Amino acid sequence: MILKSFPEGFLWGVATSAQQIEGSPRAGGRGESIWDFYSSVPGNIEDGSNPWTACDHYRRWREDLGWMKGLGVGAYRFSISWPRVFPRGWGALNEAGLDFYEELVDGLLDAGIVPFLTLNHWDLPQALQDRGGWPDRSIVDAFTEYAARVAERLGDRVRFWTTHNEPWCIATLGYEEGCHAPGRQSPEEALAAAHHLLLSHGRSAAEISRIVPRAKVGIVLNLSPAWPASESEGDRDAARWFDGFFNRWYLDPLFRGRYPNDAIADRIARGHLPGTDLPFLREGDLDEIRSPLDFLGINYYSRTVLRAGPDGRPKGVAAGPEKERDEMGWEVFPRGLYDMLLRVHREYGPQALYITENGTALADEPDREGRVRDVRRIEYMRSHLAEAHRAWEAGAPIHGYFAWSLLDNFEWGHGYGKRFGLLRVDFATGERTPKESARWYRETIAANAVDIGGPSSSSRRYP
Ligand code: FCB
Repeated sequence: MILKSFPEGFLWGVATSAQQIEGSPRAGGRGESIWDFYSSVPGNIEDGSNPWTACDHYRRWREDLGWMKGLGVGAYRFSISWPRVFPRGWGALNEAGLDFYEELVDGLLDAGIVPFLTLNHWDLPQALQDRGGWPDRSIVDAFTEYAARVAERLGDRVRFWTTHNEPWCIATLGYEEGCHAPGRQSPEEALAAAHHLLLSHGRSAAEISRIVPRAKVGIVLNLSPAWPASESEGDRDAARWFDGFFNRWYLDPLFRGRYPNDAIADRIARGHLPGTDLPFLREGDLDEIRSPLDFLGINYYSRTVLRAGPDGRPKGVAAGPEKERDEMGWEVFPRGLYDMLLRVHREYGPQALYITENGTALADEPDREGRVRDVRRIEYMRSHLAEAHRAWEAGAPIHGYFAWSLLDNFEWGHGYGKRFGLLRVDFATGERTPKESARWYRETIAANAVDIGGPSSSSRRYP
């Protein structure tokens, strides 16, 4: 075994999001979110479930904090539920909603755990969707107002602020493909949504920094390296297309103050844009979007392999039957994390990088002794951390790693069938059981090092 140490002060964390774990949708005057509404429509969630109880974290958060202490994490990435704070999306602030997070933050600080706060992890107040949602420009002010009020209340205690989690998912899955709330299917709306997410990021980041001068403010993107299925010109172009649509559509405005021309041309060719004058873009927007980030969060799960479809349009394809996949159907491809971290470092030069999510869904069942021997999760995390370490050695400014997720939880359109947690949750009783990966992660955190393999090391060491 060869142990590679991470730098001193490296932040080891776990991540969750409000809608996926909290439950208690009406407690303390919370308003309805788009995910509450969307999951009430039969057929929208694979297993017919909803997030109304989820992990019952709203009531059990002290217990969850205890589990985090046991893991020895240095940081907790969580999100604020926007409809708890603004039940109608705008207007009256609901102090009771903020009380909950204030208590949570105080509990974390008492435990020596750094709160790493996300403002928007997808649970838009339904009332704002009723006014047009992310495609409507008025949402930029609503979001900035929400961010400012949370910053005023928690800014004396929270240093790390993330505006949005994965704007691509919100815009594309929510407004173009319709498989996420609010279930819209309009490419034009999706492009406007993406722009308003970026603009509200820039505007609210400035506002948070004004209110909390010592704050570190960033955004979290889900990034996936695009691989052509073959060296054919068509497949290579399909990969270029995907990279523009998925990665550069967000990276370029944030770091370069422009949308990528080739990806604009792709959208025009598909009839999603009338021309190079983007209809949603106003003067000054790109300057606001480009305002310097203190850090970029990267969520990494897998690569995407692309091929030119029979109609000439790019298609995501499976990478080959021999490749290992998880319960989401995602290929296990650790090297992609190294590639992405280095590419972002070299091409965009962020001041700091955090791996804000990384993890894998497995069909974790307890054995006869009640143990969940999730050896594949351990190997997934180990191999990805090894690649993160390699990227750090090559110069990428990586400051932390957050495992997705602390708990098995409500996995959006899939419901409860996809288990990503370090702790298993029995959704009938709410009981939490640490999996073997929790034990492994605790040891890794304590060592501040990862085993990158070598003669005597293999996943057999664990458990
Ligand atoms: C990411 C989301 C997170 C979770 C993981 C599996 O896209 O940010 O909430 O669903 O995927």
